[in-house]
Amino acid sequence: MFGRRTTIGQGTTPARPAVPAPAAVSAPVPPSASPASAGRPSAPPPPLEAAPQKSDHYYHTKSLIFGAMIEAIDLSQLSKLDSASARDELRDVITEILALKSVAMSIAEQEELLEDICNDVLGYGPLEPLLARDDIADIMVNGSDKTYIEVNGKIQLTNVRFRDNAQLMNICQRIVSQVGRRVDESSPICDARLPDGSRVNVIAPPLAIDGAALTIRKFKKDKLTLEQLVKFGSISIEGAEVLKIIGRVRCNVVISGGTGSGKTTLLNCLTNYIDTDERIITCEDAAELQLQQPHVVRLETRPPNLEGSGQVTMRDLVKNCLRMRPERIIVGEVRGPEVFDLLQAMNTGHDGSMGTIHANSPRECLARMEAMIAMGGYTLPPKTVREMICSSVDVIVQAQRLRDGSRRITHITEVMGMEGDVIVTQDIFIYDMTGEDANGRIIGKHRSTGIGKPRFWDRARYYNEDKRLAAALDAAEQREERVA
Ligand SMILES: Nc1ncnc2c1ncn2[C@@H]1O[C@H](COP(=O)(O)OP(=O)(O)OP(=O)(O)O)[C@@H](O)[C@H]1O
Ligand SMILES: [Mg+2]
Repeated sequence: MFGRRTTIGQGTTPARPAVPAPAAVSAPVPPSASPASAGRPSAPPPPLEAAPQKSDHYYHTKSLIFGAMIEAIDLSQLSKLDSASARDELRDVITEILALKSVAMSIAEQEELLEDICNDVLGYGPLEPLLARDDIADIMVNGSDKTYIEVNGKIQLTNVRFRDNAQLMNICQRIVSQVGRRVDESSPICDARLPDGSRVNVIAPPLAIDGAALTIRKFKKDKLTLEQLVKFGSISIEGAEVLKIIGRVRCNVVISGGTGSGKTTLLNCLTNYIDTDERIITCEDAAELQLQQPHVVRLETRPPNLEGSGQVTMRDLVKNCLRMRPERIIVGEVRGPEVFDLLQAMNTGHDGSMGTIHANSPRECLARMEAMIAMGGYTLPPKTVREMICSSVDVIVQAQRLRDGSRRITHITEVMGMEGDVIVTQDIFIYDMTGEDANGRIIGKHRSTGIGKPRFWDRARYYNEDKRLAAALDAAEQREERVA
């Protein structure tokens, strides 16, 4: 068998491998949980809070088996196998050890132990059961003792624990090494991606005082669609229809929102309505967007290497885009001076470009853009900067995560122009919060502001979407009247 170096039971001097020892405390792994890189089970296991803690006997047995396994196999050989074969190999070895040591365990317990050890050696240890769940949006590890997850917009504590901070660091290291990076005291901040596309951030001690902080935004293979957002109540049918038209008729759009408010999701939704014959270039820090069109070039920024060189910033990417004959430029997250280049692109024939910005309202989004231009060292008069923003951005879509955990599109706002020194905006749709039900859920509704002919009307007519736009706006008005 590949990877073995002794016959089990012979007892040789072990060459200590560079793998973590078994987790002293790790979350129960449901028998159905699959390996990190294999397909995840679609049915989520029961909530972790309900799962019982394992007995000391279990951990004692696990240590025993783990030690025997380390002696029996050559882990460097094992690492050359693909994940499924390595796991099969490990399972065979562990099953043999269990038989040899006559460990008294039920089949279900054995299966659990097998998974647990495989996860520690090959996968992400105690994180595996969380990674296997499809209903989790974020995993937040705050040192070895505390792991939180976000489910349905709500953050909750799990009983997932790492043996110690060393095991947690080991797992962080394993994650970031897959994308050729390193995280340690000398380079304690690192962005990475899991093989399934999930976005990862690690900040290690000494910057993180209580042990490494690991944050994972779980990648959703099946991205949410506008239809689903309507079903969730994130936007009204008519609002969604207007957004589809905005995406199709090449309005320049900025999606604004706080952390985790659904900006990237919304951007992904809007890109669904781009025609298939357009050349699109996407720039992201970690590729999250999933465009369906055939003619897409995906670009990703690069952090500096250990010597501090080789960095490629978002600004570099956006600038380079302009030399790639793009028809639309999509920037995953605008955080700095690249806003200037994006606005210029929007202004110079790359209509239909889009980006997201961290801001809590459309007004604040405009101010953020101004501030980010100033960050780039441009010393343009404020009025010139505002004029530039006005002539570039057509629509701001505001996303918000409300305090009950639900995510809503709270504004679809047009940028109209300047009045004196001030940028004038016009809301087309807004979300009104009216109260809270007995379960603490926020009650509210999306309403049209009664604008019958938005500024992008001519654009809609040019793309032969004016009738559809009129129908959507009329339907929204009629709904208002019915409610009144
Ligand atoms: N309208 C929605 N209803 C329910 N869940 C949503 C909605 N929009 C987004 N989500 C979920 O919320 C999570 C965060 O979404 P997303 O990544 O789009 O946020 P973001 O604003 O881009 O976050 P960040 O600021 O970290 O980049 C994802 O798991 C996503 O599937
Ligand atoms: Mg995002």
